[in-house]
Amino acid sequence: MKVIITKDNIEGGTKAFEIIKKGMGNGAKVLGLATGSSPIPMYDDMCDSDLDFSNMTSINLDEYYGLNPDNDQSYHYFMQKHLFDKKPFKNSYIPNGMAKDIDEEVDRYNEIIADNPIDIQILGIGRNGHIAFNEPGTPFGSLTHKVNLTESTIKANSRFFDNEDEVPRQAICMGIKSIMQSKKIVLLAFGESKQDAIKALVEGPVTEEVPASILQDHPDVTIICDEEAAAKLSDKYRK
Ligand code: F6R
Repeated sequence: MKVIITKDNIEGGTKAFEIIKKGMGNGAKVLGLATGSSPIPMYDDMCDSDLDFSNMTSINLDEYYGLNPDNDQSYHYFMQKHLFDKKPFKNSYIPNGMAKDIDEEVDRYNEIIADNPIDIQILGIGRNGHIAFNEPGTPFGSLTHKVNLTESTIKANSRFFDNEDEVPRQAICMGIKSIMQSKKIVLLAFGESKQDAIKALVEGPVTEEVPASILQDHPDVTIICDEEAAAKLSDKYRK
């Protein structure tokens, strides 16, 4: 596991962008993408670059179930706004949050991932060590699955909606096993609120209670974090 410590999220985004650029130069064709605040500077660099993604495929980690793609809280909307409007890909896959049957959509998404092995997977991390919507306790062997959002997540997310009733109760999420099958993984984490999660990910025991800790078992992982997120790491990572 390689740890890169940057002065801020802007520099971190540029480091991640450079990894993508190099990967594409070496033949990467499928990018696994995340939403959330952490990858936004990387998407900005991608948009400002002269790189052409029109021969590339993207596969997103997750989507709320029950949100229209043009709802500004949907991950479809986020990806259009931050990347695809400026840099269209040949194919961009995001779970269909409006699918009639969530179980069928889960199966369809697993087939998409099997047909398009991910070359470089971008991840963020939750304060509790979650990756995608894989919360503590999610089996390491999980494929794409439906997630019933916990009451605390629904409450926390209600700040982005008009009221709590509008917050989706379910989501569709790429599983930990699928994430681990990516050839290369780049995880981004910035700010003090991620200190404990980064410490547990890099130096804690590998346990389903910290979903991201499984990344210790992957052969090609780069953690990009700022000084604040890295503050609890041992000195050997902080040189
Ligand atoms: C995003 C996702 C989440 C976020 C994580 C960190 O698709 O699945 O796991 O990566 O919650 O979010 P930010 O980057 O907003 O701190």
